[in-house]
Amino acid sequence: MTNDVTVMGLGLMGTALAEAFLKAGRTTTVWNRSAAKAGTLVAKGASRAATPAGAIAASPLIVVCLSVNENVREVLGTAAETLAGKTVVNLTNGTPRQARELAELVTARGGEYVDGGIMAVPPMISQPEALILYSGSRQAFDTHKDVLGGLGAARYVGTDPGLAALYDLGLLTAMYGMFAGYYHSVALLRTEGVKASEFTPMVRSWMTAMMAGLPGQAADIDSGDYVTDVSSLTNNAAGFPNLIEASREQGVSPELFVPFQALLDRAVAEGHGADGLARLVELLTTPQNTP
Ligand SMILES: NC(=O)c1ccc[n+]([C@@H]2O[C@H](COP(=O)([O-])OP(=O)(O)OC[C@H]3O[C@@H](n4cnc5c(N)ncnc54)[C@H](OP(=O)(O)O)[C@@H]3O)[C@@H](O)[C@H]2O)c1
Repeated sequence: MTNDVTVMGLGLMGTALAEAFLKAGRTTTVWNRSAAKAGTLVAKGASRAATPAGAIAASPLIVVCLSVNENVREVLGTAAETLAGKTVVNLTNGTPRQARELAELVTARGGEYVDGGIMAVPPMISQPEALILYSGSRQAFDTHKDVLGGLGAARYVGTDPGLAALYDLGLLTAMYGMFAGYYHSVALLRTEGVKASEFTPMVRSWMTAMMAGLPGQAADIDSGDYVTDVSSLTNNAAGFPNLIEASREQGVSPELFVPFQALLDRAVAEGHGADGLARLVELLTTPQNTP
């Protein structure tokens, strides 16, 4: 008898994925390197597989969520002979290259491969706010999208197995950039005793207002026309040293923003001073010195 789905990897995220499948009424097999972590899921109705090969044999759909893709390669490698006819959906965070290599490994054994990026934390899984990006075999995704829909909002982004990881890392980059700015701003205000909780509502309003301008910047980037009547790179490059200088004077490390000043200066030095800030995208894709 086969189950609907197998979950391999029962860390914080894998456990949430298996619980979501059980909650959606899917018959679920679970496997984890440290077997004890399967206990609570088995108590909720999951079947326990003793080995990776047993886990893969148990269901047509194999959802994998381990720490890193090296672990996935290792675990699938020990059970390679069981992959024929199976669909592996790998939700482990990784790079596009790793996803493409894993796709080759699985398809060479007669399986189908879909890579995924989870834009959520474990408590969000199974809620519509949990966005899960998928790429790779379209046929395999279509076959299993109803079951995968139990994890959250499923968004298929293309047949290249590396695309989900690329979107995932792109979104994470935007998030870390926002956090970096926020942490620096709070550190600055704190030097004069302004509490983070007092300042944060102002930051939220400001960032929300700034984000409203992103579609306009996207249009500039796609057209390659960076002419601005709002704020030139020359003005930004001239004003930015105030941010660095004030940080130092207030005893706050400017380390997150010194590279941004260098990029602004390079844009002006390369003759783009009259353009808007979105021109920086072009400089990032023609780096002067790749660190
Ligand atoms: N947690 C989140 O908020 C979140 C959000 C989005 C994406 N993710 C991604 O989801 C993945 C899992 O995250 P997590 O939070 O569940 O991590 P976690 O709690 O640390 O769990 C890691 C899992 O990987 C397994 N593992 C590690 N090394 C292994 C190996 N050599 N062989 C076999 N299994 C191995 C662990 O097994 P043992 O139990 O035996 O150690 C465990 O099942 C990561 O790629 C993470 O980036 C997580």
